[in-house]
Amino acid sequence: MRVPMIAGNWKMNTTVDDAVALVKAMLPGLDRVGGVDKLICPPFVSLAAAGDLLKGTSVKLGAQNVFYEAKGAYTGEVSPLMLAGMCEYVIVGHSERRQYFNETPEIVDKKVKAALAAGLKPVLCIGERLEENEAGITGEVLTRQLTASADQMYFKSGLVIAYEPVWAIGTGKSATPEQANATIGFIRKLVAHHLGADAAEGVRILYGGSVTADNIAGLMQQPEIDGALVGGASLKADDFVSITKQASEAGGAA
Ligand code: PGA
Repeated sequence: MRVPMIAGNWKMNTTVDDAVALVKAMLPGLDRVGGVDKLICPPFVSLAAAGDLLKGTSVKLGAQNVFYEAKGAYTGEVSPLMLAGMCEYVIVGHSERRQYFNETPEIVDKKVKAALAAGLKPVLCIGERLEENEAGITGEVLTRQLTASADQMYFKSGLVIAYEPVWAIGTGKSATPEQANATIGFIRKLVAHHLGADAAEGVRILYGGSVTADNIAGLMQQPEIDGALVGGASLKADDFVSITKQASEAGGAA
């Protein structure tokens, strides 16, 4: 039985004051929702303030990125050791990191490893670009992205996978529930192929890309979809609470 997860990726939005206001606006509603893991991922500079507000609540905290070295002359980077103790999760390999910051599957894998070694739980993002989808090579792309991080240890350590087709992110053009379900089913088979049936059954695989309060219910009805990684709609308190509630009502995946 996989516990569904609804995760909010705030991306490069909110000042510290904005973040505090947003956490305060959504926290009472989020905290009341049961049966779903609720995660928010504000920018680095707001993690401490958000963490203070979340103490003693059921809402979990994550970062949006991490570097793979523990410390040293890497100006501007944030290490897993700095995040450990501050937050529980970290998004790794988001398509925006792959696209704008040249993160290859190998770099992403190093980040996953470093995060796990520091006791953080990675939310590993994978997904194909529009031209890859149109060229019919989605399977190959996902295989390459996932295989770099296909290590039995990862899946025993609470790793979460987020399938985010790049063409659906921030475009208002979500994958249909059936499309998302089929591709997530494919990803689960990949995990089974590399790591066996137990790892595949246990790992949570979220869908991400233009998830809203209007389409979450349909997505959650699909058996392979274990929740959502939400961008734009996670910046609106009422919408994010509604998405979380609907995920709870749907009861999540098998
Ligand atoms: P979106 O972003 O919900 O705004 O499409 C999702 C994501 O990039 O994680």
